[in-house]
Amino acid sequence: MELAIDRLTRQFDAKIAVDRVSATFVPGVYGLLGANGAGKTTLMRMLCDVLRPTSGHILLDGRDICSLGSDYRAQLGYLPQDFGYYPEFTALDFMEYMASLKGISRSSARRRSLELLDAVSLIGEARRKIKTFSGGMKQRLGIAQAMLNEPKILVLDEPTAGLDPKERVRFRNLIASFAQDKIVVLSTHIVSDVEHIADHIIVMRAGAFIMEGKPESIVHSMEGRVWECVAAEREAADLEERFTVANAHYTADGRTALRIIADERPTLNAAPLAPTLEDVYLYMFRDGQ
Ligand SMILES: Nc1ncnc2c1ncn2[C@@H]1O[C@H](COP(=O)(O)OP(=O)(O)O)[C@@H](O)[C@H]1O
Ligand SMILES: [Mg+2]
Repeated sequence: MELAIDRLTRQFDAKIAVDRVSATFVPGVYGLLGANGAGKTTLMRMLCDVLRPTSGHILLDGRDICSLGSDYRAQLGYLPQDFGYYPEFTALDFMEYMASLKGISRSSARRRSLELLDAVSLIGEARRKIKTFSGGMKQRLGIAQAMLNEPKILVLDEPTAGLDPKERVRFRNLIASFAQDKIVVLSTHIVSDVEHIADHIIVMRAGAFIMEGKPESIVHSMEGRVWECVAAEREAADLEERFTVANAHYTADGRTALRIIADERPTLNAAPLAPTLEDVYLYMFRDGQ
């Protein structure tokens, strides 16, 4: 299975939200990383056939999704960013309702709903009203509904928004367990959400893909651009002024240890550090770019 986007573009009046992006997705987890306004949601809505591109194409195994229509949508699972839950529904009611919208027969809807609620660890809460759920529980329910039709392509827009650190870990494990043989595209502005589960990272800025690749190779590209320097207060302030600082903390002797991102050694006593994906992100978005 191969999902290709070709010079995909979406314009809203004068604003070009997605600007001629091209990529080929094969089974695996893709992390779409970018700040607010980068164009992630617009791209995902086009991928899910709920928003028409201004220009460009989306092809599933070489066929334009416009010609596939409902055959394409039947293979999709989508968790929108602003997903509307029905607070008075129980989790099970909600799942069965979503199943009916997806054209799943009544008899399999119940079975499939229970299976999925179990998979996202909500089986014990199946008959509780959604209004009593925490953010993490709602997100898990959102993922469960996206899986109802056994999609081959799963699109999750900011699925970790509002989750606490523990829920984030749990969520990552859940995605990893669902990802087999599927194209999973998930968006986030939090690097650590995708660092460990994404096979591919796409960094988006101002509607364009500015970097893509495997996390290891993206991180490798930062080799020689991350430094540690320990400085007294005054010099530390000066360094913070002049460079992108990923982290700063006081050392036992009252000086400041700085993690600096710079193309060249920022000071004579700076020592190179192993880069992380977080450094890459800060590097790409330095100076408010
Ligand atoms: N329906 C719309 N009408 C007008 N502008 C929009 C619409 N949707 C998105 N935009 C604009 O397109 C840009 C990208 O938005 P979006 O795709 O939501 O980015 P992200 O999901 O990365 O935060 C933003 O500048 C946003 O204001
Ligand atoms: Mg968005």
